Amino acid sequence: NELGVVAVGFSGGQCKPGVDAAPSALIESGLLNQLKDDLSYTLHHDDTVHTYSELLPSQDPPHRNMKNPIAVSAVTRQLSTQVYSHARHGRLVLTLGGDHSIAIGTIAGTSRAIKERLGREMAVIWVDAHADINTPETSESGNIHGMPVAFLTGLAREKGAREELFGWLGEEPCLSLKKLVYIGLRDVDKGEKRILREHGVRAFSMHDIDKHGIGRVMEMALGHIGTDTPIHLSFDVDALDPQWAPSTGTPVRGGLTLREGDYIAECVHETGSLVAMDLVEVNPSLEAMGAQETIRAGCSLVRCALGDTLL
Ligand code: ARG
Ligand code: MN
Ligand code: MN
Ligand code: MN
Repeated sequence: NELGVVAVGFSGGQCKPGVDAAPSALIESGLLNQLKDDLSYTLHHDDTVHTYSELLPSQDPPHRNMKNPIAVSAVTRQLSTQVYSHARHGRLVLTLGGDHSIAIGTIAGTSRAIKERLGREMAVIWVDAHADINTPETSESGNIHGMPVAFLTGLAREKGAREELFGWLGEEPCLSLKKLVYIGLRDVDKGEKRILREHGVRAFSMHDIDKHGIGRVMEMALGHIGTDTPIHLSFDVDALDPQWAPSTGTPVRGGLTLREGDYIAECVHETGSLVAMDLVEVNPSLEAMGAQETIRAGCSLVRCALGDTLL
C-alpha cells in the first residue's frame, strides 16, 4: 500500500489565480493524514507544494494561440518525471493540482512507467464537465487546461516542435483514444464534438447518466476498458454540480451529485487497477462561501478512489 503524492501549485493552464492554492488547502484539511491513518497507506511525499518557479520564463508569448505555452510545457515535463519516479516503483500516484493542464505531465509519467514495468498500455477515465480535447487550433480560449487530452493522444502534435514547446512529449502518444473514457460531460466545444465523433471516443455525458443511472454507466465505462487494464483516473472537480463544488474556475450547472462523484471513484477503486489519480481545478479563492465545501468534496473523491468504504 505505497502511495506517491505530488502537490502541484500551478495555475498557468488558465487565467484565474488561486487554483495553485488547492494542494495546501486539501492537505491542511487533513487529506494526507486520513490516507495514512484511516486507509493505512505508506506515503511518499516530499512535503513540498511545487510551484516550479525556477522553470517559469520571463517571456512566454502565445504559440499556436496557446497562452503560457513555455511555462505549461516546462512544468508538465518536470511533473512527468516526478510522477514517473513514483510509478516506476509500483506506487499508486496521487497528484493534487493545480489546473487540468497538469494532466499532460501526470499521464505522460504514469503511461511511461506502466509501459516499462508491465509492457502495457493504460486506460484513462476522465471525469469532467469538459472534454479538454481542444487542439491549439480549435480552442477558443487559448487556455491549455482545455487541451491536455489533445496533447496526450497526439492530436495536438506539431511536427518538429521545439522541446520547450511540448516537443518533449515525443512522437509516440502517451494515450490511445481507444483507451480513454469520459464521464460527466456537459460543456463541450464545437471543435471538440467533431474530434470526439470523428475518433469514436467513448463518452458518457450527463444525459447518459440521467438515462441509465450512474451504476449502469460505470458498468459500461469499465466494460469498455476491460478488466486488468491499469487505470489513471483524472478527476476535474467541476464534474460535480456547482452545488457541491462551487469554487472552481469554469463551473457548469447540471453536474454530478457528490454521491455520484464518490460512486465513480469507489467503482474505480473496486477494479483494483487504479495506478494514479489526479484531483484538479479546486480553486479556494473563488466563491469564498463555497471554498470549504469544494475542498471537502475533493477530499471525499480522493478517499473514495483510494479505498474508503461506507461500511
Ligand atoms: N472548453 C473550454 C476551453 O477550452 C473550457 C475548458 C475547461 N477546462 C477545465 N479543465 N476546467 O477553454
Ligand atoms: Mn513532490
Ligand atoms: Mn472541467
Ligand atoms: Mn478539466
